[in-house]
Amino acid sequence: MQRIKIKDLLKSTNYGSKVCIKGWVRSKRDSKTVAFVAINDGSIIHNIQAVIDTPNFEEDYLKDVQTGACVKIEGTLVQSQGKGQSVEIQASSVEVYGKADPETFPLQKKGHSLEFLREIAHLRPRTNTFGAILRMRHAMAFAVHQFFNSKGFVYVHTPIITGADCEGAGEMFRVTTMDLKKIPIENGQVNFENDFFGKETSLTVSGQLNGELAAMALGEIYTFGPTFRAENSNTSRHLAEFWMIEPEVAFNELDDNMNLAEDFLKYLVKYALENCSDDLEFLTNLYDKELINKLKFVVENDFIRLTYTEGVEILKHCGHKFEYKVDWGTDLQSEHERYLVEKHFKKPVILTNYPKEIKAFYMKQDADGKTVRAMDVLFPGIGEIIGGSQREENYEKLIARVRELGMSEKELWWYLDTRKFGTAPHAGFGLGFERLMLFVTGMGNIRDVIPFPRTPKNAEF
Ligand code: 4AD
Ligand code: MG
Repeated sequence: MQRIKIKDLLKSTNYGSKVCIKGWVRSKRDSKTVAFVAINDGSIIHNIQAVIDTPNFEEDYLKDVQTGACVKIEGTLVQSQGKGQSVEIQASSVEVYGKADPETFPLQKKGHSLEFLREIAHLRPRTNTFGAILRMRHAMAFAVHQFFNSKGFVYVHTPIITGADCEGAGEMFRVTTMDLKKIPIENGQVNFENDFFGKETSLTVSGQLNGELAAMALGEIYTFGPTFRAENSNTSRHLAEFWMIEPEVAFNELDDNMNLAEDFLKYLVKYALENCSDDLEFLTNLYDKELINKLKFVVENDFIRLTYTEGVEILKHCGHKFEYKVDWGTDLQSEHERYLVEKHFKKPVILTNYPKEIKAFYMKQDADGKTVRAMDVLFPGIGEIIGGSQREENYEKLIARVRELGMSEKELWWYLDTRKFGTAPHAGFGLGFERLMLFVTGMGNIRDVIPFPRTPKNAEF
């Protein structure tokens, strides 16, 4: 018999029909003559209940039908007598594909802590919470592509292994095939000549620089791939490996960039509301009663736009005691960003025109010589969700900044070439995919919105 997914079966009104489902047992309740088995196959958060009249079967027929086991159940679809489900299966046969020993299967009961589940990341997709998160992660990735495709953007695959240190001096993971016991050192320097690529290489921290090259030919592009940062920050907002979406658009200036970022975020959140209602309802009930309202609020309200300088003024005079002092010229901490968003404006905020010293070399310089056309989008509960800017398209100004920062012109020759040959105003940004997932799922820790998190001292699964 053809297998039917539980998602489709729960919608069916074809009572009396013969059906076959396959999935994992979430729970089993026995009484004298009947067993109720709840099965989930990952297609939807809800389980289907199989009702098994035990006298119809041999004595230990059901002994391996235990929480965690994988089963195939055939039977008749009937209208449910019990509360909480519309249909159930009156089972005629049960086959066990894989047993799960109740003595050792770690997910016996409900209500494990998220911390515990991180230690069994290989099994946590079997919980309601992680099923919901992983389905939503898929929905958001799909919506990212749908948004850009509908606007005519070209998806460009930028390299994961890079010879350029785009912006994260000292934050990069090295890539090498050298024998670590025999590193060739000459005059205190490693000689990479005989390494795989014949030069020093790392895992990329961002696809932007390559993305810009493509935008200078295709006009509107985006990247969506893994990025890597070896910053040793053990926070609930940082991963060593995370996914980033980076659009780059020729002829866009800072205002266009802000409009694109705001439209994009609203589109994604709206998509979640419209397409993930079951999972959202579950997460709202279990973790954050205000989650759905928070998502609606973002879709329905304009983001506040103000300059870094204005933001600093507000923070300096707000009377709130911060752990880190705010002064013009210093980078804002997450506590400052969240104060602006959660306490002062109570709305998402786009901060622009940051001091050039705290931003990357490629950002377009403002006429005052002090600030650059940067923009960070700050979200409630998250802080920075997007970072981006208009880019410096002027060759002389860009090269002056590269020299000022002591960066290597020689290594960036290909990037600088775009400013020599047919340069154009352009702008882009990066959305941290897991920061978005934190927001739409209402989860509090970034380790819980990626299947297998990579953080300092943690790369087990
Ligand atoms: O602000 P960032 O560093 O910007 C860039 O990488 C630019 N090249 C983007 C561009 O203009 N094309 O990073 C962008 C976003 C941040 O706003 C944040 O959401 C996320 O990436 N992010 C992280 N997410 C998880 N873990 C980390 N360690 C992250 N670092 C940045
Ligand atoms: Mg940033």
